[in-house]
Amino acid sequence: MPLQTKILKNNPINITKVIQLLNENNLVALPTETVYGLAGNAYSDSAIKKIYSVKKRPFSNPLIIHFKDIKSALNSIILNERAELLAQKFWPGPLTLVAKIKNKLISKIACSKMKTVAVRVPSHNLFNKILNQLDFPLAAPSANLYGKITPTSANDVKDELNGKILAILDGGDSEIGLESTVIDISGSNTSVLRTGSIGNVKLKTLLLTNQRDNKNFPISPGMSKCHYQPHTPLRINAKVAYKGEALLAFGRLPKNFKGPKLSLSKEKCLIETAKNLYKMLRILDKQKSKSIAVQKIPSTGLGLAINERLIKASHKIKNG
Ligand code: TXA
Ligand code: MG
Repeated sequence: MPLQTKILKNNPINITKVIQLLNENNLVALPTETVYGLAGNAYSDSAIKKIYSVKKRPFSNPLIIHFKDIKSALNSIILNERAELLAQKFWPGPLTLVAKIKNKLISKIACSKMKTVAVRVPSHNLFNKILNQLDFPLAAPSANLYGKITPTSANDVKDELNGKILAILDGGDSEIGLESTVIDISGSNTSVLRTGSIGNVKLKTLLLTNQRDNKNFPISPGMSKCHYQPHTPLRINAKVAYKGEALLAFGRLPKNFKGPKLSLSKEKCLIETAKNLYKMLRILDKQKSKSIAVQKIPSTGLGLAINERLIKASHKIKNG
């Protein structure tokens, strides 16, 4: 029999329920400032296996481990100057560091048996409240099925994982709407594995980063070409939307287009666009249009991270 997935409101009884579920190595979808995560005990192989199974994610793609404070996150990795610098500057917040593992309690399955681990200290009150009542950190990938659109509200998690998990803790809409910036500091070179709301310019002022060339093989296991995908094909950098299509506009909505249409930001604000991106893709995906035409978004600042997602969301696998 499928599970009943409940959306739990933020109140003391429900927080206790969430803590109990996590202590019993069950999964709960939790809000973070970036997107919703599918959280489980990072020290428990059984909880971690459930995460992979619910998401249908290959075991070769490791998870991010979330800590309650900077100290416990840094205590779990082999330290270097860059780790300390970035942690002091950006934690708690939307930054994930990939470093060599020190904490032997972290499930090896969560790290895909690699020598490195991805760690982050989120800056969401509710998520941190939960972490503070647990004796273990939480592994939490985005709460979507593997390769699909990331959820940014409790209802969107339900849309994605209904019947597969017991509970979703409602923390309202995600403030940022895009996943954290992932930086690899495990070797002598520092590289950005995934762009996010902490932009490359900000990072470059702190340390020299270089985007790795991943043409031939994915250096980060999550760097596949297809991700964040709606069921409806996506057409990006569209100048116009055609009959039968849905339109995801950047700026004011054209009056002459009669099909389904939404604007990411009428004032062309990139922060608002990031926040609306996944939510609006999910709404337009339900219109059963022949494709979704997305207007061009400038590749500056946050636009870089937005376009990185849109390119992957529109990528089609050749030969099946
Ligand atoms: O904002 C976020 O980061 C959200 C919230 C819930 O914290 N989480 C998230 O997790 O986006 P996920 O699993 O969807 O993405 C994690 C990315 C994947 O691309 C994964 O391959 C990469 O981080 N990653 C994890 N561990 C790694 C490692 N040891 N080396 C390289 N990449 C790693
Ligand atoms: Mg994800």
